[in-house]
Amino acid sequence: MSWIQEGELNLLERISANILKAGPMPKHVAFIMDGNRRFARKKNMERQEGHTQGFNKLAETLRWCKQLNIREVTVYAFSIENFKRPKDEVDGLMNLARQKFEKLLDEREKLEKHGVCIRVLGDLNLLPPDLQQVIAKAVLSTRAHNKCFLNVCFAYTSRYEITNAVREMAWGVEQGLIKASDVSEALLSECLYSNSSPNPDLLIRTSGEVRLSDFLLWQTSHSCLVFQSVLWPEYSFWNLCEAILQYQVNHQSIQRTPHPQFPNII
Ligand code: FPP
Repeated sequence: MSWIQEGELNLLERISANILKAGPMPKHVAFIMDGNRRFARKKNMERQEGHTQGFNKLAETLRWCKQLNIREVTVYAFSIENFKRPKDEVDGLMNLARQKFEKLLDEREKLEKHGVCIRVLGDLNLLPPDLQQVIAKAVLSTRAHNKCFLNVCFAYTSRYEITNAVREMAWGVEQGLIKASDVSEALLSECLYSNSSPNPDLLIRTSGEVRLSDFLLWQTSHSCLVFQSVLWPEYSFWNLCEAILQYQVNHQSIQRTPHPQFPNII
């Protein structure tokens, strides 16, 4: 399946989308796409088929987000912790990524037409060299696009990202490029993999697990967190609408939380 789905919403979905869009909409949504293996078990499928259907659901969700004017999406596609899974599963996920990033290179025209910029956040050095190359080519081929953004967190955990940022600042101090007193929240944010993105407004985790599992810990300190029981490959347009509705209900109190750059504004 392609990364870019061309389909339209049906009439009922369109009406619901327009009602939702009358309220405050999140501009950036992050997803922890959890439950692929449980889905495969439930349907008596191979585990790998669960991950493939997980990718298909990602493509479908991106289409819904576009139709809801959500410009930026960040997904947790492979955690550094996932390297501890059985070798055949890790190899299967690497093969899926290889196949999908190669496909992305074939789809350059479609990505240009829709203005989709794809970024990969994580430590690519942890990946097989051929996959590093395909990812680098795919990312470079869309870097000038600016209508919508997809950030794929791959070989990523948040604590690794923050540790890396701290190490980078320590190196800067050691080299005399910055002073210790230059270290600040703003500088640390600049050193994160996510430095080109605003923080997510809404973070959604599927499968009923109620934790962040080392995903975007720094970036979601003021985001609305929504946990849904549906398994990721079964995620529906209506699940997304429900999450956005929860965001809208909580919007006023989210707006009232102190802004990191202007802590005195409540
Ligand atoms: C969590 O479900 C999901 C993953 C570890 C992988 C997610 C990957 C995809 C949806 C495919 C994305 C691929 C690309 C190339 C972007 P789980 O395996 O932990 O399932 P469980 O919670 O039921 O055990």
